[in-house]
Amino acid sequence: MQIRTVATTPFTDQKPGTSGLRKRVPVFQQQHYLENFVQSIFDTIGTPPGSTLVLGGDGRYYNREAIQVILKMAAANGYARVLVGRGGILSTPAASCLIREYRTHGGIILSASHNPGGPEGDFGIKYNGGNGGPATETVTEAIFAASRKIAEFHIADTADIVLDRDGDHEIGDMTVSVIDPVAAYAGLMESLFDFAAIRSLLKGGFRIRFDAMHAVTGPYAQEILVNRLGALPDSVMNAVPLPDFGKGHPDPNLTYAHELVEIMYRADAPDFGAASDGDGDRNMILGKRFFVTPSDSLALLAANAYLVPGYRRGLAGIARSMPTSAAADRVARELGIPCFETPTGWKFFGNLMDAGKVTLCGEESFGTGSDHIREKDGLWAVLFWLNILAARRQPVETILMEHWAHYGRNVYSRHDYEDIPADAANSVMKLLHDRFAELQGAQFGNLQVKRCDDFSYTDPVDGSVSTGQGVRIMFTDGSRIVFRLSGTGTGGATLRIYLESFEPDVSRHHLDAQLLLAELIGIASQISELRERTGREQPTVIT
Ligand code: G1P
Ligand code: ZN
Repeated sequence: MQIRTVATTPFTDQKPGTSGLRKRVPVFQQQHYLENFVQSIFDTIGTPPGSTLVLGGDGRYYNREAIQVILKMAAANGYARVLVGRGGILSTPAASCLIREYRTHGGIILSASHNPGGPEGDFGIKYNGGNGGPATETVTEAIFAASRKIAEFHIADTADIVLDRDGDHEIGDMTVSVIDPVAAYAGLMESLFDFAAIRSLLKGGFRIRFDAMHAVTGPYAQEILVNRLGALPDSVMNAVPLPDFGKGHPDPNLTYAHELVEIMYRADAPDFGAASDGDGDRNMILGKRFFVTPSDSLALLAANAYLVPGYRRGLAGIARSMPTSAAADRVARELGIPCFETPTGWKFFGNLMDAGKVTLCGEESFGTGSDHIREKDGLWAVLFWLNILAARRQPVETILMEHWAHYGRNVYSRHDYEDIPADAANSVMKLLHDRFAELQGAQFGNLQVKRCDDFSYTDPVDGSVSTGQGVRIMFTDGSRIVFRLSGTGTGGATLRIYLESFEPDVSRHHLDAQLLLAELIGIASQISELRERTGREQPTVIT
């Protein structure tokens, strides 16, 4: 085998966002684009002798081609072994699980998460460190810096590796081990949850529907829900992963998972519905004609964790991203454990989990997880819910109503304005900053502004500071509006508006969130001059 060193010139746009480098497929297909970024990762993380790497992706268009390039580059850069999921497939949580189980020198995950795939869709690549979690900002900044001055990359000249059968192959001194993408992950799930109780729930006629959205969780859901837990075969829909996700948008929310939503709002709806995204780290939870917000889901899992074998010993703490509602804080207070508020993005949870400060983490963006791995985990959340349902034997809606009756309801919604011109989005954010002083103490109907800021975070473990993490308008009654620009989009800009108020009155708990938040929605539009500046009348997605 020959190792080639190829001269290259830098691209200026290889800056990782909220979760790795995401670009349209044609951008990645430019000559040396992928190679440059992969070499920048290797140059940054180094290759200690004997290093193993985990490699896999969500199966989207360009996954297979990219895997072959990365395998050849790993061999040329001195790796001893690469563990790659059969067919090049690994969900993000399964990759995190394997990195930890095999104590590897991290892993490379190919995914653009919930963004659409296909030849004109998105592709992405991210590096996860030895703890199984997303690279920290220090590492992603160093990768970006390396990409700005790269002059050459190294690649082995060798035939493509057959990825469709388990087994070992050699590229020079490096072993490529093609492994079952599901087994280790399924085993971990079985060690955390009461599979016998869930099996008996399902046997008793409790009907579930899981939408894999033609993305990576199909094989995982099939093995865990159907083969191991005995769910009926039609419990998993859109189970076959497709390179273009069947032309869908694999984002588990009320807009994009509409096929499942329609089923769950029918008269004969199943008892429990759930969906996961492109790479399997997100989850949406539904009951019969009932939607559980991700913020409530985190709080509810925390309050009911004592029912789940893997968490019965108690929780060290909870962490949530800043825009996530404070429902979990109420549970933490009652449990007498700390609750941390971090910037958006899973990478901020890693340090807290590694330091043993938190057990459960969550984001309003359909992300929930725990310290069993270092990524959010879609199927894990589904199994956590099923375990609670098996123990409590009540409908999802009743469980939520009882939770709100006890803690009060943090009414919550997120409005996304997708694909707006970057200039318009930036001008809205600038306007808000410029208005901080004027807004202080301002009265809007019944609501008075208490404080405005741009959220910044000091990591309690390593002291690193992250600034500019979202504009917060906080009101005296505890309501708030948060404005933030997305860091994961690939076209134009996406403005996210997060709305939250607190409703202690049980007689109002069943009311629709948009109705309860109407006043805040109006204030958000007024102070941001959103319509005037973006020309948009309505959000693209409401969750
Ligand atoms: C979005 C979500 C964020 C999540 C990230 C990766 O990032 O808002 O919570 O961690 O995707 O799944 P954003 O586009 O808002 O930067
Ligand atoms: Zn994802």
